[in-house]
Amino acid sequence: MKRKTLQDFQTMKKKGEKIAFLTAYDYPTAQFAEAAGLDMLLVGDSLGMCVYGYPGTTPVVMDQMIFHAEAVRRGAPETFVVGDMPFMSYQSSVEKAVENAGRFMKECGCDAIKLEGGVRVAPQIRAIADAGIVVMGHIGLTPQSSGQLGGHKAQGRTAESAKLQVRDALAVQEAGAHMLLLEAIPPEVGRYITGRLDIPVLSIGAGPHCDGQLLIVSDLIGQFQAFSPKFVRKYCNVAETITEAMKRYAADVRAKAFPADEHCYSMLAGEEEKFLQAVKE
Ligand code: KIV
Repeated sequence: MKRKTLQDFQTMKKKGEKIAFLTAYDYPTAQFAEAAGLDMLLVGDSLGMCVYGYPGTTPVVMDQMIFHAEAVRRGAPETFVVGDMPFMSYQSSVEKAVENAGRFMKECGCDAIKLEGGVRVAPQIRAIADAGIVVMGHIGLTPQSSGQLGGHKAQGRTAESAKLQVRDALAVQEAGAHMLLLEAIPPEVGRYITGRLDIPVLSIGAGPHCDGQLLIVSDLIGQFQAFSPKFVRKYCNVAETITEAMKRYAADVRAKAFPADEHCYSMLAGEEEKFLQAVKE
């Protein structure tokens, strides 16, 4: 499978072919995602919750994102990888935004970066795009500013709020972003924005009419336990599978059923006698 490009995603939008997008945080998961034929992977700052056990995404720092993005790149060399800009890696200045976006490209070989916000981050989007980097905007429920939104709440549920989402979507495209992610907004608003924008529009909880769908891998495989947003479909339950396997292992150790003969190394011929003799002396 050849790594898809931004142009491929634009063509998919035109043809009405849906983009399959998933998060990944580590090497083995990236390998599985590539084998499964995902079109695009996001090394999301959701790793703060899904991997590090933080209560939210705000503690995540740039170096953590770089380590995980490097691992994902190695695991999925033929898949389009998006690095997610963590909290305070772009908000405070345009220069900082460009520098940190550049790290995802230089140090990890990412294909694009993502950052949260509409009108208020338009200067950062413009500057990063002007540096030659593919930019994905992210509006709707933006977890890094969930404090201002009153928590992890769906957005655009009133006409007034929906209008603000449209304003932000247009600002993101106008600033030069190449793709847009909509999180947790009603499908009517997702459909309107997808039709209105020229750039590919991805959805995580923004309904079926967008150009592609994103899920958090830890939700999809049933690994993340703390809560499950409305937009999640769980495709398997690895938490149960892994816990069961660990229980069986612990029981085998306690019952002296592990390790068995096949898990033990044999001494070379004639060496056991020599060894017993040597420890006697
Ligand atoms: O970090 C992430 O995975 C994200 C999604 C919640 C959209 O930004």
